[in-house]
Parts: sequence; structure tokens; C-alpha cells
Amino acid sequence: MIQRLLDTAGVSFAYDRDTALADITMHVDPGQAVALIGPNGSGKSTFLKGVLGVLPVISGSLKVLGHDRDFNVGGHIGYLPQDDHIDADFPVTLRQVVMMGRYRRLGWFRFPRAVDRQAVADALTVTGLSSRANVRFGTLSGGQQQRGLLARALATKPDLLLLDEPFNGLDQPNREALIATVRELKSQGVGILLTTHDLDLAREVCDSVLLVNKRQIAFGPLDQVLTLANLQAAFGDVQVEVDEHKVVIPGHEH
Ligand SMILES: Nc1ncnc2c1ncn2[C@@H]1O[C@H](COP(=O)(O)OP(=O)(O)O)[C@@H](O)[C@H]1O
Ligand SMILES: [Mg+2]
Repeated sequence: MIQRLLDTAGVSFAYDRDTALADITMHVDPGQAVALIGPNGSGKSTFLKGVLGVLPVISGSLKVLGHDRDFNVGGHIGYLPQDDHIDADFPVTLRQVVMMGRYRRLGWFRFPRAVDRQAVADALTVTGLSSRANVRFGTLSGGQQQRGLLARALATKPDLLLLDEPFNGLDQPNREALIATVRELKSQGVGILLTTHDLDLAREVCDSVLLVNKRQIAFGPLDQVLTLANLQAAFGDVQVEVDEHKVVIPGHEH
């Protein structure tokens, strides 16, 4: 049987004493992408932080890569934080930024070896950035920087990849490049959990959806979860464009 990369049963996370996200039962299998969808402040980033081990589990259970959550498995999880950035004036090349992804494995004061350089080259290839490797990071476009930070997460060779709003602010070419990357990673057996407001994107690259608003609304295959009733439970007033049966979330039209 497939080993689940992420497997939760009724898990809840809190900051201090206030429960931020309750009762999540979901899983991510190898080669599968799960979209985590919910309004602003609904607990999406909180869930990723909980999986990473930054927040305490206050109830329920959480298994990451087949183990109860344990900081030692961190090397096999790749994480792209929301709104991460690197100072545009910081004099580093894209390749150096991606190499930072190896340092948890390397230790800060060891020199990269062939295996590290290869992992960086692979991460640049899969994100379509090989030709930009020696360019100063700060001179790349916003979309390329975002893909570069994804490459940094991929340099760890993760089994499970957590992406927090990876498509935010991307123009069409970068969006397509990132979709291609997600597909390629899935074909390599990587499991992906990504947060997004974009239902079209979820339909395009994800196998299942976890819909939340402070608690779980639904988890399962896209067509079973993305129903009008579920979306209304998560977002309140959603409009339906009758012609295409397309659901538009207020504030997230595009
Ligand atoms: N560091 C924190 N300390 C206390 N509360 C927080 C912290 N970060 C987020 N929260 C709260 O947790 C809830 C969920 O936030 P978040 O997971 O960031 O939502 P989302 O990513 O879906 O927009 C919000 O009510 C937010 O105010
Ligand atoms: Mg967030």
C-alpha cells in the first residue's frame, strides 16, 4: 500500500489558547496535489505551519511521512512560505539562493559537494530557471523570484512540498511555468499541498481539495468538494455565473 506523505485525523492547531483551525481530516499521497482553499484568515497558513511542526497539535493526530510529527523529518519537507522575499540589494545569485535550500543538510560551514550542486541544478531545471542561474537574484522579475524560492524549497529533494499561495501575483507565463513544475513534480511522486484562492487552478493541477474556514468544511475529490453549498459554507456569499457554472469568490475575481 502507498505510504501516505501526510495523514491527519481530526487535528487542531492553536496560537496560544485560541484554536485557529479545528478538526482537519485529510491526506496527501505520493504524486497527488491537494488544494487548500478558504477565505483570508481561515487558517490555511496555520495548517501548513502545523504540518511543519511550528505550532502545537492541541487535539487529533498528524502523521508526516509515516511518522508522528517530528522535527527530524524536516529534511524531506519542502516549504514555500507566503510573502517570503529576499532583499533586492542582497548580492547573491539565483544559484546561491537555491543552494541555501541545501544548508540544512550541509550545515552552514561546509562546502557544497557534487550531490548538492546537482540538487540545485535539478531544482533550477524543473522550475525552468537554468539559464538564469548566475543572474543576481534581485534583478529577476517578481515571478522568476517566486519560482527561484520554489527552487530553493525543491533543492532539499522533498517528498512532501508545502506551497503557501505560490500563484499569488504571477503573470500568465510564470503561472504556466509553475503549473508545468507542479505537474512534473507529481509525475516524480512528490506530494503537494498548496494554498490558493484560484478554483480554476485547483481544477487544473490538483487531485483533491481541502476546504476550510477555521475548521474543515470538506475534503475529497474536486467535483465532490467544490459544490455551491460547500463554497457558501466557506466563503459566505459566492456568485455563480450561470453560463459556465463558474463560481466567483468575491474579492478574488481574476
Ligand atoms: N502568529 C499568530 N498569532 C496569533 N494568531 C495568529 C497568528 N498567525 C495567524 N493568526 C490567526 O490565525 C487565523 C488564521 O490565520 P492564517 O492561517 O494566516 O489564515 P490564512 O492563511 O487562511 O489567510 C487568523 O485569525 C489569524 O489572525
Ligand atoms: Mg495565509
